Amino acid sequence: TRVAVLFGGNSSERAVSVASGQPVLAALLRQGIDAFAMDPDRDPIATLLSEPFDAAFVVLHGGAGEDGRIQAVLDLMAVPYTGSGPAACALAMDKQRSKQLFAAAGIPIADSQIMTSADQAGAVYDALGPRVMVKPNAEGSSVGNFICHSSDQVAAAFAQAREFGAVMAEHFVDGPEFTCAVVRGVALPVIRIQAQGGVYDYAAKYETGDTQYHIPCGLSDDDESYLQSLALRAHDALGCSGWSRVDFIQGETGFVALEVNTVPGMTPTSLVPKAAAAVGLSFDDLCLQLLNDAVG
Ligand code: DAL
Ligand code: MG
Repeated sequence: TRVAVLFGGNSSERAVSVASGQPVLAALLRQGIDAFAMDPDRDPIATLLSEPFDAAFVVLHGGAGEDGRIQAVLDLMAVPYTGSGPAACALAMDKQRSKQLFAAAGIPIADSQIMTSADQAGAVYDALGPRVMVKPNAEGSSVGNFICHSSDQVAAAFAQAREFGAVMAEHFVDGPEFTCAVVRGVALPVIRIQAQGGVYDYAAKYETGDTQYHIPCGLSDDDESYLQSLALRAHDALGCSGWSRVDFIQGETGFVALEVNTVPGMTPTSLVPKAAAAVGLSFDDLCLQLLNDAVG
C-alpha cells in the first residue's frame, strides 16, 4: 500500500500543515509504511494525479484540504483517506453552521452571527458585546481573529477578517480554554490550555513556546466527562469520522463549544498527540491507527 501524506496546501494554515505533515510522514516511514509527501497547493487535482497511491493521510489544515473539497476528489478517485468525508468537513469548516447544528444537538454555544457589512458593527456590538470576537467563518489556527471592545473595533476587525471570506461575530467568552480529541469514536482526556498572554492565538499556538497544556485538565471528573460527552456529540452532530478535536471555553455561565477541527494539528505543540500520549498511545501508533482505520 502506497500512502500519500497530503500536507502543505495553499491556505493561510500552510505553515502549520507542513509542521503537522512532516512528523506524520516520519512516523509512517518509521512504521515501515511506503509513504511519501504530496503538496497539493496551486493545482491540487494535477498534484493528486501526478503519482499513484492507494491511500491518503490528510494533514492539510484549512482551505480545500479541510473543507471537504480534497476529500470529495479522493472519493471520486476511489482512494481511502483518513478522517471525515466531504459533508462533515464542509460543515466543520463553517463555524456558524456548525454552531447551528451544535445548538440543535443541545450543545451550548456562544451567541454569534454572520456579518456581511461594516454597517452592522453597531448592532452587532449591541447584541454580542461588551466584548466581541470577530473571526473569519472558515479559517483555523486563530488566523484573522480580533477581540473587539467597541463597535468601531468591530467595524475595523470586520474589514480585516473579510479578507478571508465570510465573517462571524461572536460574543466573546472569557475563560480557560479546553479541548477534547475524539479518536476512533472515543473521547480522549481533556486538555486545559493556558496561554501566557491570556489569549490562545496563533503565536501562543505555534510561536511563543510558553503555552502550558494541562493533562489532567484540573476539572472535576463530572465536568471532564461532561466535556467528553459534548465532544462526542459535536463530532456526531457534524457526521465526522475517524478523528477530530473539539474546542471549548469555560465562561461564567458554563462551557461553550467553539468548533470541531476535522484535521487537527499534529505539530510538536499540537493537542491531539498530547491527549493520545496521556492514554499511552504514541504518536507513531496514533498515525498508524488512523491510517489503518481509513484503509481497513
Ligand atoms: N487548525 C489547527 C491546525 C488545529 O485545529 O489544530
Ligand atoms: Mg480550528
